[in-house]
Amino acid sequence: MKILSLQESLDLELGKANELYSRHFNPGLMNIYKALGMGSWDIVSAEGMEIRLRDGRTILDFSSSIGVLGLGHNHPRILAAERICHENKVIDAIKMAPHKLQGALAHNLAQMLPDPLEVSFFSVSGAEAVEAAMKLCEKAQSPEKTKFITMSGSFHGKTHGALSVTTAGGFQRGFLMGIPPENVIEVEYGSLDAVERAIAGETSGGANPIIALLVEPVTGEGVHTPPEGYLRGLAEICKKNGIYTIFDEVKVGMGRMGTFCAFQQEDVAPDVVTLSKALGGGKRAIGAMVSGREIYQKAYGSRKDCSLHTSTFTGLGESCAVAIEALNIYRDDNLIEKARENGEYLSRKLSLLKEKHKGKIVELRGRGLLQGVRFSFGKGLFDKVVDTSKMGLFKTSDSAFMASMLRALNEQHNILAHFAPSSPDLLHIMPPLIVETGHLDTYVDALDDILTKGFAVMAAQFVKANIRDRLTGA
Ligand SMILES: Cc1ncc(COP(=O)(O)O)c(C=O)c1O
Repeated sequence: MKILSLQESLDLELGKANELYSRHFNPGLMNIYKALGMGSWDIVSAEGMEIRLRDGRTILDFSSSIGVLGLGHNHPRILAAERICHENKVIDAIKMAPHKLQGALAHNLAQMLPDPLEVSFFSVSGAEAVEAAMKLCEKAQSPEKTKFITMSGSFHGKTHGALSVTTAGGFQRGFLMGIPPENVIEVEYGSLDAVERAIAGETSGGANPIIALLVEPVTGEGVHTPPEGYLRGLAEICKKNGIYTIFDEVKVGMGRMGTFCAFQQEDVAPDVVTLSKALGGGKRAIGAMVSGREIYQKAYGSRKDCSLHTSTFTGLGESCAVAIEALNIYRDDNLIEKARENGEYLSRKLSLLKEKHKGKIVELRGRGLLQGVRFSFGKGLFDKVVDTSKMGLFKTSDSAFMASMLRALNEQHNILAHFAPSSPDLLHIMPPLIVETGHLDTYVDALDDILTKGFAVMAAQFVKANIRDRLTGA
């Protein structure tokens, strides 16, 4: 047996590191990374918006690790918070006594959120926060209630329960559902009528079997924003019908939309909210489910029931410390207000870009620091350059084009971008909240350059680069 030391692991030469990743971790993902030009990335360090590579390149991270990096990479105050924990030997794991940092973090979240949201449960991931929210509602409702309402195109995570209410992207295919499909009602996002119709269809003798309705206030995959009054309308309809509301803010919460949670742009509060990703300051895996006291008491308030939903790593000391510090940085640096201002700046720049590239950019979505640019790549254009059916990874013309765009942004403009495979024509722009207008200019200028050269050039470069990689074994 030969296991690598930490130093040997850190010092792994790129080829060897990629080989280990492919062989022992995720070969399919490695293939995708290679197609996007990331197989040559030997990451030396990361700080703020920047990722530094061994070949001297500095990449601007506009992916935020899909929402984790609200504060960018290795924020100095987050590093300092970790140092304080280490120097003081702060206790991390304690199950047989209360941890003061759990109470403090829960207090801080209650301060950031409107009434009645004041009781927290901590998880290590977003999906677990969603699971916790669903179970809380289940337990608080009468046992006759057995169904959930979820939205089309939603994403709530990939554990069995959260996956059952995730309708986007074909993630359910091939898996058993934790919540059986007959217990999940899917309705169109954005339509109050659709929700009312669904409830009416389930109601008999004045009662309905619905436990709770789950919604992402802004959808993370399709980047759809709610019509005005939609979230308040949902809450009112649900309340009238004895249905709990769960707002899933795992991706769009933590200030990204210009308010702490996206739903706070309407005068409304759900029964339960879920948070994660940026809550860990970019360094820790932590999620939270925050509910009102009444629903919490109903579900788990008694001594008998208080440990019905707990987990081993709930609120480790250092994770809580980092999350507490993250919330303080948000407040001290006015990051939520800055996200709103920078979001408006980005919207203006993207509108001008859309005007300049009419026909290529067909729609702009989102707000704050999650915006989407939808392209019309021209069906069939890519297929003229290459037979996409043989490409395996990027089978549809749109996803092949989007992969080309990501590779062009990476290799020609040193920008790390991303998209959701369920909407392959929609580029996501999701920088950390510490982004400056100069960074936004760089991104929009890069898109301008790519669009000016044209999609055919971008696609041809992509094909050439992938053939070159194959020939050189990169
Ligand atoms: C809205 C939403 N909910 C839940 C999740 C699941 O979070 P995790 O991947 O941490 O399990 C995600 C992840 O992207 C998400 O965007």
